[in-house]
Amino acid sequence: MTPTWVQLVYLLCAVCFILALKGLSGPRTARAGNLLGAAGAVVGCAVVFFYLDLEHVPQILGAVAVGSVAGLVGARRVQMTQMPQMVALFNGVGGGAAALVALLELEHMVEGAGWFDLAATAFTIVVGSVSFSGSVITFLKLQELMTSRPVVFPGLPVAFGGALVGSVGLSGVTVASPSMAVGIVLGLLGLLVGVLLVLPVGGADVPIVISLLNAFTGLTVAAGGYVLGNTLLLVAGTLVGASGTFLTKLMAAAMGRSVVNILFGALKGGSTLGAGEASDRPVRSAGPEDVAILLGYASKVIVVPGYGLAVAQAQHTLRELVDVLGARGTQVDYAIHPVAGRMPGHMNVLLAEAQVPYEQLKEMDDINGEFKQTDVVLVVGANDVVNPAAKTTPGAPIYGMPILNADEAQQVIFLKRSMRPGFAGIENELLFDPRTTLLFGDAKDSLGKLLSAVKSL
Ligand code: TAP
Repeated sequence: MTPTWVQLVYLLCAVCFILALKGLSGPRTARAGNLLGAAGAVVGCAVVFFYLDLEHVPQILGAVAVGSVAGLVGARRVQMTQMPQMVALFNGVGGGAAALVALLELEHMVEGAGWFDLAATAFTIVVGSVSFSGSVITFLKLQELMTSRPVVFPGLPVAFGGALVGSVGLSGVTVASPSMAVGIVLGLLGLLVGVLLVLPVGGADVPIVISLLNAFTGLTVAAGGYVLGNTLLLVAGTLVGASGTFLTKLMAAAMGRSVVNILFGALKGGSTLGAGEASDRPVRSAGPEDVAILLGYASKVIVVPGYGLAVAQAQHTLRELVDVLGARGTQVDYAIHPVAGRMPGHMNVLLAEAQVPYEQLKEMDDINGEFKQTDVVLVVGANDVVNPAAKTTPGAPIYGMPILNADEAQQVIFLKRSMRPGFAGIENELLFDPRTTLLFGDAKDSLGKLLSAVKSL
């Protein structure tokens, strides 16, 4: 029986988690929310040392030290653009840990456990293993340690279906007559399901799968909390499961795709994306001085930031340019597409780092009506999020994805290095539009030159 004071501490931690989620929903409060959630987690972990008669304390403390150092060093070293794979790795470790704990619990449950407890244990083992191996594959794909294209082979649907049915069957066996051996095979089948689930998912869809696996880990941890009789784990897991599910749905909707299509599109030969060829069609390009004139004499400019801005780490130079334009009397806003970059909120985080005022960041739905009255749209390292193929080309991988209406403005300027396509791997007609000018080069370099040219106007 958990003592009342511990229950109260757990309640406090649960409140921290809920307030953390609330804080994370806005850029102003995100940092505080993150700290509050972390504080709740630390207190929740520490409290067990004070009320349980724990065995193996030195080993536990050793493992905590190793995990903390690995987490700290990893989080400090990771580049912003590598954040999704970092999240994948952390998430996978969470799912794997829950599966291992459930497996060890199974040993104690062999005799006299209720069917529901056993079902929850089997669920934790399978789904935790799926989450672990699936996350490892997403990590390998995003880190480009394996191909990021969909991997499909004959017999994959049968193997996947077989592994899935096998896991359900073995879960039944675990409930009927639990044993460690069955538990281990169940875990191995779960690992196989995870691998086969993620292999056919390619390119731009991988971060959505990370979010889905994150939801799986949440459910696993919640079930693990039930198995261990720990209410805080139950609450934390449920929160992660619910928020991961919402995030998955929101990201899929922002890309105009269904989750089923993302997961299984490649099996039907319909999906997904890959590195496309650079186009050799003629475009209009210009030097920084000419582009500076377009910008310097515009009265309304919208900046569309994208993945390339993050790659070039050009956010500070961009903010300086926008400040100089603002001082000249130009009205400048940033148009933020929900899936610009490679992770949710990527552009918000990047621009917040450069201290861009939140008021200048406009969500897609709020700004899309303004492009018609805009003199110049400055597209910095973005491509797919302004590609009209999303509206005009059925069958294109991004067809149906809501886009920023940059094509409605008087002039469009693209800052990019080459004619290579964006993540979706398809050509962007807007690059060839007579109203479009390209300034080729690394975004930081180009923005630096533009900044000097605008200053000397
Ligand atoms: P992309 O369509 O990927 O385009 C990025 C552009 O940046 C490319 O045209 C590239 O052209 C340019 N670029 C790269 N490095 C550059 C540099 N150093 N300097 C200047 N330009 C550079 O990016 P986007 O418009 O932000 O769209 C995001 C894509 O990722 C969408 O397809 C979205 O569905 C997908 N995605 C997003 C998320 C989330 S949650 N954000 C998750 C999964 C997938 P060059 O190579 O010619 O320079």
